[in-house]
Amino acid sequence: MRPSLPDPAAALFPDAASRARIGHWLVETLEAASRRVQAGPVTPTIDAQKFREELAAFDFRNPRPLEEAMRWAIEQMEHGIVQMSNPRYFGLFNPGANFPAQVADQIVAVFNPQLASSASSPVPVALEAHVIRSIAARAGFGPEATGHFATGGSEANYTALLCALTHANAGFARDGVRAFTGPVVFYTSRDCHIAWLKIAHQAGVGRAALRLVDTDGHGRMDANALTRAIEEDRAAGKVPVMLVATAGTTGGGMIDPLHACAEIARRNGMWFHVDAAWGGAALASEKLRGLLAGIERADSLIIDAHKWLATTMGCAIFITRHGHVLSEAFHASTSFMPSSNSNLDPYLNSVQWSRRFTGLRLFLALAAAGWEGLGQHVERGVEVVERVKARLLASGWTVANDSKLAVLDAVPPPSLGEVRELVRRVVASGRAWVAPTLFEGRDVVRICATNGETRDEDIEELVAALNTPP
Ligand SMILES: Cc1ncc(COP(=O)(O)O)c(C=O)c1O
Repeated sequence: MRPSLPDPAAALFPDAASRARIGHWLVETLEAASRRVQAGPVTPTIDAQKFREELAAFDFRNPRPLEEAMRWAIEQMEHGIVQMSNPRYFGLFNPGANFPAQVADQIVAVFNPQLASSASSPVPVALEAHVIRSIAARAGFGPEATGHFATGGSEANYTALLCALTHANAGFARDGVRAFTGPVVFYTSRDCHIAWLKIAHQAGVGRAALRLVDTDGHGRMDANALTRAIEEDRAAGKVPVMLVATAGTTGGGMIDPLHACAEIARRNGMWFHVDAAWGGAALASEKLRGLLAGIERADSLIIDAHKWLATTMGCAIFITRHGHVLSEAFHASTSFMPSSNSNLDPYLNSVQWSRRFTGLRLFLALAAAGWEGLGQHVERGVEVVERVKARLLASGWTVANDSKLAVLDAVPPPSLGEVRELVRRVVASGRAWVAPTLFEGRDVVRICATNGETRDEDIEELVAALNTPP
């Protein structure tokens, strides 16, 4: 008789009592760390030299107790990152993650479902589809709309370009850009998220395929400049395939003219895509969703739930009204997968194959807060920015952008010095985090409400930090 198998590797698969003990310790330790992070500096305070030495000591030859490694990792996180969960982080669109989304990550980590196939994960696949349908309906799409969760806005936008190319020419699937009669081009405003350049590169159409259309002086795509660019390109033998309108530009929170863009795309036989990575969250609010009128005319749209909807990182949504194009772009056939339903299985409808169950984050947030609760969160962000704006205007600042969303591009009075230096001072102080950016050619301080727990005293601290002279 063969001897029985050795026990499982105990450090990787500890027994139930150890897991329970470590789990309780983790919950309490994380809660305490989180409270310190919220009250502490926004910027890293780590001793970089000490960190490097300690890291180098993990040579992976001599294992350490898991709890020791966990304690070390949590300490490094507490001191070694810009803290998105700090209510004085007025930064890029990185949220303090909402609690239901954090809990979703824990649930998913334990079950670790494989979301490639509906046969492996019937419940998660159906649950994600339910959330997608709900968002699509909110955006004004019909019941034919479909889509999936993606790792981020970049992947979701990449999906849109692949759909546009597949839709534009039946030969693209087999022959790539060689199927087209001339160089492919697609259009965004010059204030788009510049990941579009990487997307053009990876899709094989080349970075020159991206046409950056002028803005109208207020940070929105200039529809006349767009029409001229398309005419010029056609005359030069180029093949326009897609128009991308940004609904909530990264720098200034501006919304391109969606109806005009829809019309121009239709007239020119182009795929109309709306990049609502950040601004799409406004759909949750009854007060704000009207700002996105015209989005319902898109062939596809994306929203990053990990931005203004405050899920944990890596939770984007791609939606299209042309499910057959999505299936055409990502079809594959193999005998080893447990299911191969082209209308259903995520691996046959998206860039990814193996995939994590990220949709549970938004499902739990929506289940617990409802559209109304998510809407209140979004409106609260707008209110935070309105209060910052009023305080800055009262102390001699001017405002460059006219966004109705939760981002302010502000210009300091001359006494506070040059923008980049001012931002450097504020960030170095650890009192608050803001970014420098360019809006319509001007240097501005970009202040964005991304944290759902910012209070009036945090606004006061931000304003005081911004108004501290050199
Ligand atoms: C308008 C817009 N589109 C796309 C992206 C890229 O999204 P991600 O960082 O999730 O890939 C961003 C990120 O800020 C964005 O603001």
